[in-house]
Order: sequence, then structure tokens, then C-alpha cells
Amino acid sequence: MSQPRVFVTRRIPVAGLDRIETECNAEVWQEPLPPPRNLLLEKVVGCDGILTLLTDKIDAELMDAAGPQLKVVSNFAVGYNNIDIDEATKRGIQVGNTPDVLTDATADMAMSLMLSAARRIIESQDYVRQQQWKTWEPLGLIGQDLVGKTIGIVGMGRIGYAAAKRCRGGWDMKVLYSDHFVNEKAETGLGAQRVDFETLLKESDFVSVHTSLDETTKGMFNRAAFELMKPTAVFVNTARGPIHDQGDLYTALNTGQIFSAGLDVTDPEPILPDDPLLTLSNCVIAPHIASATVSSRDGMATIAADNLLAGVLGQPLQCRVTS
Ligand code: GLV
Repeated sequence: MSQPRVFVTRRIPVAGLDRIETECNAEVWQEPLPPPRNLLLEKVVGCDGILTLLTDKIDAELMDAAGPQLKVVSNFAVGYNNIDIDEATKRGIQVGNTPDVLTDATADMAMSLMLSAARRIIESQDYVRQQQWKTWEPLGLIGQDLVGKTIGIVGMGRIGYAAAKRCRGGWDMKVLYSDHFVNEKAETGLGAQRVDFETLLKESDFVSVHTSLDETTKGMFNRAAFELMKPTAVFVNTARGPIHDQGDLYTALNTGQIFSAGLDVTDPEPILPDDPLLTLSNCVIAPHIASATVSSRDGMATIAADNLLAGVLGQPLQCRVTS
């Protein structure tokens, strides 16, 4: 029997790739940058499955290009805003993602950004490297305290909970959250209080975004939202860039409406070279690396391979996304 045909849009850890290459007739894109759209549309023709990254747009046009035999799109990410889930569901194409294995790594990244932005770590490093460190300064590089402050979690899912737990256990913070759903575990275990978005913005010292990107969350951190936040507040986004309005964030940081920000995600990605955010010393920016740890990436590769291999055989996926 011939092996299922699959296209893998980038090299992923061998924990998943080896099995895909053994069990499928697989073509793996070898370049460091994603396949350009026209090549992606060519490469998927006749495929039974595609393993995609969050940088690959998977829409009706691509599903048409692949053909009616396409059974599965396995996304190497927990987020799936790059995929038209309704369209896939309508066509009976299963979509997989990689939850859980990156929860701790992402929560750790949120904490790293929070600390860096609160304690001005990158600015301090630049200060040292630029030979500006002349003496111990009683008034120099003063940052924000963490102990006993209030964390506002936007989106109390798995990652939001893991971030809240660190803030509660590490710094005894009060936990507020906004979400469509009540998170009993966070309420009973961490004393978290569910509040409306406006209250969360007004009362939090730290605001950390852990919600998915969709039409309801796109641009939710805009001028009006930043204006409600405290001038001492630290904003952290490890979810998706378009959840904040980047121009409005720049204004909020530049005019002192908020104290600082830590971003693992920007809009667009990569951030444009002339984006004014890059000129600010109170904005820490990382290149979307929250899941970049050994165990997270191996776990993602394993689940993405499991999803792909099950999907091409028409079996249910271990981690399936539905509309
Ligand atoms: C990364 O952003 C992911 O969704 O896995």
C-alpha cells in the first residue's frame, strides 16, 4: 500500500519528524523562512495531510489547492488563528494543535517579561554595555515592586492559570481575571476573582494576556484600554500580537500612561524595522519564543506528528480543534 502523502512546512524536532518521514511519503520544507504562498499552494497539491506552523495561512484557497483527499492539518502550535477552522470543519478536514506541552514554558516566558519590564533589566544591561555605569545610584533605574500587587489575567485558560499560579505563589499577588468562563480551579486554588475587563484594567498592577486571537479579542488593548490602566502598570503579551494595537501601545508607553511592557508577540511578526516601539527603553520585545524550550518543542513535535499520522489514516486526533 502506498504511504500517505504529506507536506511539512518547516523542519521540526526529530521527536516528531523521524516518524513522519518513516511512515509517510513526506516532503519537508528545508528553508529557514516559511514557504512563500505560491510555493505552499503548489506543495500541498495531492497531499493527504499538512503539518503547518503559525506562519502558514491555511484557508479555503489552500484547501482547494490541496484537493479533496486532504484529511488533516496538524498545526505545530497551540494557537490556530492561522487556520480557517470553519472551512476545514465544513470540508471534513480535521485540524490538530499542541496544547499542554507548552503551558509552563509560556507562563515562564510571561514571568520573564514581567520581571524584565518591571525591573528594567534590558535597559540596565544596555546601560552597563554602553559604559554608563559610573557608581551605585540611589535614584537610578528604579522599577516596580511585585510582592503583594495585583495581577490581571486576560484569558484564564491553561496558560493563564499557570501564570496566575506563579504570581500568587511567588509574590503573593491578588489575582483578577477576565474570561467568558468561570475557572473554578483558579477561584478556589488561587483565590482568583473574575471581573469585567474594565475593572481588571483599572485595578491591576500587572496585566498579562493569555487569550486566543479572534474577532472579539483583536485590538482589545487599544487606546481606551491603556488609558484605564495605572501609570505604574506593566503590560505583558505572550499570546498574539494583534490583541494589542501596536500604535496605541507605543503612545501609552511613550506618554507614561503605563510604566512598561513585555512582548513575546508583535503585529506584524517579525516587527517592522521602523516600528517606533523599537525606540523605547520601557518595552522589552522577544521574537515569539515562549515555547522555545527542549521539552516543549519536543512535546509539540510529538503531538503534531501523532495528529498528522492519525489524521491521514482517518482516525480521530489526540488534540483536535473544532469550530
Ligand atoms: C505559539 O504561539 C503557539 O500557539 O503555540
